[in-house]
Amino acid sequence: MFIPFVNEPLTDFTREENRRRMNAALAAVRERTGRTYPLLIGGEEIHTGEKIVSYNPSQHDEVIGQVSRADRALAEKALQTAAQTFTSWRLVPPEARARYLFKAAAIMRRRKFELSAWMVLEAGKPWAEADADTAEAIDFLEFYGREMIRLGAPQPVTAYPGEENTLEYIPLGVGVVIPPWNFPLAILTGTAVGPVVAGNTVILKPSSNTPVIAAMFMEVMREAGLPDGVINYLPGNSADIGDFLTGHPLVHFINFTGSKDTGLHINRLAAQTAPGQRWIKRVAAEMGGKDAIIIDADCDLDEAVAGAVTSAYGFSGQKCSACSRLIVTGEAYAPVLTKLVERVKQLKVGPAEEWGTSVGPVIDAASYKKITGYIETGRREGEVLTGGTGDDSRGYFVQPTVIAGVSPAARIAQEEIFGPVLAVIQAKDFDEAIAIANNTDYGLTGGVYSRNRNHLEQARREFHVGNLYLNRKCTGALVGVQPFGGFNLSGTNSKAGGRDYLKLFMQAKSIAERF
Ligand code: SER
Repeated sequence: MFIPFVNEPLTDFTREENRRRMNAALAAVRERTGRTYPLLIGGEEIHTGEKIVSYNPSQHDEVIGQVSRADRALAEKALQTAAQTFTSWRLVPPEARARYLFKAAAIMRRRKFELSAWMVLEAGKPWAEADADTAEAIDFLEFYGREMIRLGAPQPVTAYPGEENTLEYIPLGVGVVIPPWNFPLAILTGTAVGPVVAGNTVILKPSSNTPVIAAMFMEVMREAGLPDGVINYLPGNSADIGDFLTGHPLVHFINFTGSKDTGLHINRLAAQTAPGQRWIKRVAAEMGGKDAIIIDADCDLDEAVAGAVTSAYGFSGQKCSACSRLIVTGEAYAPVLTKLVERVKQLKVGPAEEWGTSVGPVIDAASYKKITGYIETGRREGEVLTGGTGDDSRGYFVQPTVIAGVSPAARIAQEEIFGPVLAVIQAKDFDEAIAIANNTDYGLTGGVYSRNRNHLEQARREFHVGNLYLNRKCTGALVGVQPFGGFNLSGTNSKAGGRDYLKLFMQAKSIAERF
């Protein structure tokens, strides 16, 4: 009997002891930077000539590590290995599969500070964000393990005289898992181990920005004893192997989290039936967001502004859940702007490894260029009240930016920026605020700060997002508590950390025997 699922607690860095442990972990990880990691196909370590080099976004001349880069021949080998391994892995009882996850969770808990330190250095995550990322990875292991035990048990069907009727969930087969760099441990872990505990085998193609933390994940899974070939670690360029994997006839599903354009591309490709393919591929795609928080005139403005700032600038706004539009109703507009600018100016921008940094760097040169480009667009579309500058001389730092007086149709109010840039929009009343909030291709998260019960109820009915947050920040969905996934072009609403998730990677078999 396993204890019921509970979320992994977050580390309290106001305690000196925890700060000491984190600094020690950072120093220990620094000793190990610059190493080279092989591909892992069926337990075989394969070093390739071509490498992907991973850099520290806070200090872009620091190499975190190098990983081997797969080509098509190696991708084919990985798929064949995964297909072969599926024949045995699918027969491992659900409880036994779950135990690998519980063991991996225990290992991650023991290596918590170290794993977080890798993310601080490789992804530029400030301490608390990195710690939350590790905690969420542990949560996915614990939650999906228990979910598989639940779904592995006989499922309820109506009894029928003279027959035994059962319904069981069986896995699909081989999947391709393509996680993002912004939750390089949590989302990578969840999107890999969900399908795996359901009995599938996978090719894991990590983001080229964060392949080293992905190699650490592989270390954990190996230490947990997961059989070789169940998860095959295959870094590579999308152009080289991405389409090849997605289009391959052996692949049964693709579990993707990343940009809208890539997600839609994968969806198109997966819809084609390759010669020899005997099934319809499934795509779970969690894509972008253009998430809005509405501040209703009668709410506690300080609390609302604090929540908006956390939602907009946490991890430099590089979350699909991040608030990138702040919609303020009526006479609250002017005081909100004052409070907002005051608070944003207090954010400490700096290297992620320094304790006390609230906004670290953005991930790479391309992101820096894209975000600063949007800020220039924003100057024409509104008024930059604070921020608006960047410095990429050492790391990719963008000052937290507030742009006010933005029209709901402006580019910076419609396009995902994925950086520390907040567009503030004025609405005449709550009805208009909801209409503005819904006027987007996306529908991932949304927030409302209000004391008006009618408005809160209206938001429940009309604010069209997969994750709606009332009187709190709109980031940081907790596994099991707020199953995560959006509407419209935010994705397929796969609800990571929810009770429907594993079924995305399984099919139900009904068996009737007449006696
Ligand atoms: N699940 C994350 C959040 O809620 C985003 O991916 O912030």
